[in-house]
Amino acid sequence: MFDMMPPEQETTITTTVTSNIPVTNRPENSLVYAEPPGSTSSEVKSSLDNGIPLPQQPTAARFSNFLQQSLKQITLRFEDVCYSITLQSKQNGGCSSSQEPKLTRNILNGVTGIVRPGELMAMLGPSGSGKTTLLTALAGRLAGKVSGTITYDGQPFSSSMKRKIGFVPQDDVFYPRLTVLETLTYAAFLRLPKTLTSQEKLEQVEMIIVELGLTRCRNNAVGSGAALFRGISGGERKRVSIGQEMLVNPSLLLLDEPTSGLDSTTAQRIVSMLRGLARGGRTVVTTIHQPSSRLYRMFDKVVVLSDGYPFYSGQAGRVMEYLGSIGYVPAFNFMNPADFLLDLANGIVADAKQDDHNGFDHHEDQASIKQSLVSSYKKNLYPALKEEVQRNNGDPSVYRSRTPRSPENQWTTSWWEQFKVLLKRGLQERRHESYSGLRIFQVLSVSILSGLLWWNSDPSHIQDQVGLLFFFAIFWGFFPLFNAVFAFPLERPMLKKERSSGMYHLSSYYVARTVGDLPMELILPTIFVTITYWMGGLKPSLVTFSLTLLIILFNVLVSQGIGLALGAILMDVKQATTLASVTMLVFLLAGGYYIQQMPAFIAWLKYISFSHYCYKLLVGVQYSVNEVYECGLGLHCRVMDFHALKYLGLNNLWGDVAALTVMLIGCRIVAYVALRMGQPH
Ligand SMILES: Nc1ncnc2c1ncn2[C@@H]1O[C@H](COP(=O)(O)OP(=O)(O)O)[C@@H](O)[C@H]1O
Ligand SMILES: [Mg+2]
Repeated sequence: MFDMMPPEQETTITTTVTSNIPVTNRPENSLVYAEPPGSTSSEVKSSLDNGIPLPQQPTAARFSNFLQQSLKQITLRFEDVCYSITLQSKQNGGCSSSQEPKLTRNILNGVTGIVRPGELMAMLGPSGSGKTTLLTALAGRLAGKVSGTITYDGQPFSSSMKRKIGFVPQDDVFYPRLTVLETLTYAAFLRLPKTLTSQEKLEQVEMIIVELGLTRCRNNAVGSGAALFRGISGGERKRVSIGQEMLVNPSLLLLDEPTSGLDSTTAQRIVSMLRGLARGGRTVVTTIHQPSSRLYRMFDKVVVLSDGYPFYSGQAGRVMEYLGSIGYVPAFNFMNPADFLLDLANGIVADAKQDDHNGFDHHEDQASIKQSLVSSYKKNLYPALKEEVQRNNGDPSVYRSRTPRSPENQWTTSWWEQFKVLLKRGLQERRHESYSGLRIFQVLSVSILSGLLWWNSDPSHIQDQVGLLFFFAIFWGFFPLFNAVFAFPLERPMLKKERSSGMYHLSSYYVARTVGDLPMELILPTIFVTITYWMGGLKPSLVTFSLTLLIILFNVLVSQGIGLALGAILMDVKQATTLASVTMLVFLLAGGYYIQQMPAFIAWLKYISFSHYCYKLLVGVQYSVNEVYECGLGLHCRVMDFHALKYLGLNNLWGDVAALTVMLIGCRIVAYVALRMGQPH
């Protein structure tokens, strides 16, 4: 099994890496690069066998066939990538190291590099040096202005490209209640092309599970990582995250600190897996925190960053030679090159003679060391690098005309397929939500309590009955609204992750999400109305009851729409709930029950209150126009003359239905548009 495998065998123990550059690391010797895509299959196998056993299943061969034919090789070139952020306030200090208050801060300063298919590039640097920022920029996911050029096989970033890029962020985002198997299966169904059958997709998932050594935890819930809901371990989560990206067989795989927090054996395993993937013709870029020298030797290329400035970018094996040539040699021969590089990136040169406290009290030294490294990079490495990056970087327009963007290339699965998978996933995730039980309890208790309070209310007490109807309108205005407000803000990280890898249409997600909520949203009011209506002694007519129920359900849909819109616009739970309660209070007050005669300048408020329309409809359905009630001993009055109903204006019920319909559709459109505007690209 995976866990038992020895780490990658690299038996040659070189005394120093400086003079002993492994020849295989040089691009000109890279077999994979030189060979056509079709011939790389043997490479994949052998390299995967190196660290991870490929299951010897007949399906594997069939699938690897698919993997090979769909693998497009991508050379990633980035040139002079700069990125700066505008700081909100002029505060001095903080994270910013500059002395004078500045409004912008440069996070990346002209980083250049090239990674070819078959190569594994590592980004090194101390924490805060800009590794994540650079990686995000390379994935085309950096919001804001990135200057410089980043090309993928000569083409700029495009939406068809984003499906060929796998991006594993540092923080894993999952639906916590789904198991490892379910998580990967849904990803497979969303991301694998429709040319594969369901069976083949499932086989691929099995293969990934075996390949990543997740067999033991395949049926465990992923968990949210935090103390909230414990699931699988951190290393396993990371591997699931990588597995999700590997499923689609990306041509370019970008990973942010895939080994942080893992033990060195697991880290080794992950990196050798990455190298295996690279050798199969992919381009792999990873940031890495603290590589051991064993890990370091697996990298083909490194980019070393110090405060956003690169001071090395090129062959991993040559870095010591280069640093030696500009006068930086490690204190002792066996030093891990990664340690040495990180020390230098922090501006620390550990001298053989001096103690380890050296450097910590020489801030000026540190700054000048960093500066000299950066300037010698500019002088010695940059010109050649730039030339290399620009060489063969064909005219982008030629590429674009050669590969016309075909529409079937845009989406791997159809809208309907995406909708079905998302709906199923949503229902599965919801099933575990503990608050479903709580909500049923809440609704049942409120309905029985109000049933008891209004127990067989006397039809002559119009005021009481009308009060019950208003309560229906308000309760089923509040309740769905508050549930819906959470929908999008809570799913935001997931949505962002999946949308930026182009997994599905926003509309299919949106429809699946709202449809998935419907069963619960419609069953609860049905239970409520059934109980309270008959306990409360409202008009004992099946038609009236059914109409009342229909109106309430309609009201629920409108209120859900408003909640979704508020959530989608604000995308923040706290803000959205606050605004929702204010909105609801306004609608409650303007509903027409508490006050009938509003001052003219504010009377329009009731026309935007959906509770007002619902209330009117409920009353209109409950009492017919000529209905009378006993308003005194032997006296009969018309219900419509009752003071609380007189000014309600019950003569245009279809108008109220129309108003609610407009709100229903309007809010959902607003919610969708807000969601779309909040999306990357
Ligand atoms: N959106 C942002 N707002 C404020 N600071 C940022 C932002 N993005 C990056 N930074 C800053 O840029 C620096 C580099 O960040 P990052 O790329 O995450 O570093 P690394 O991954 O190397 O630790 C950090 O000092 C961080 O505080
Ligand atoms: Mg980082």
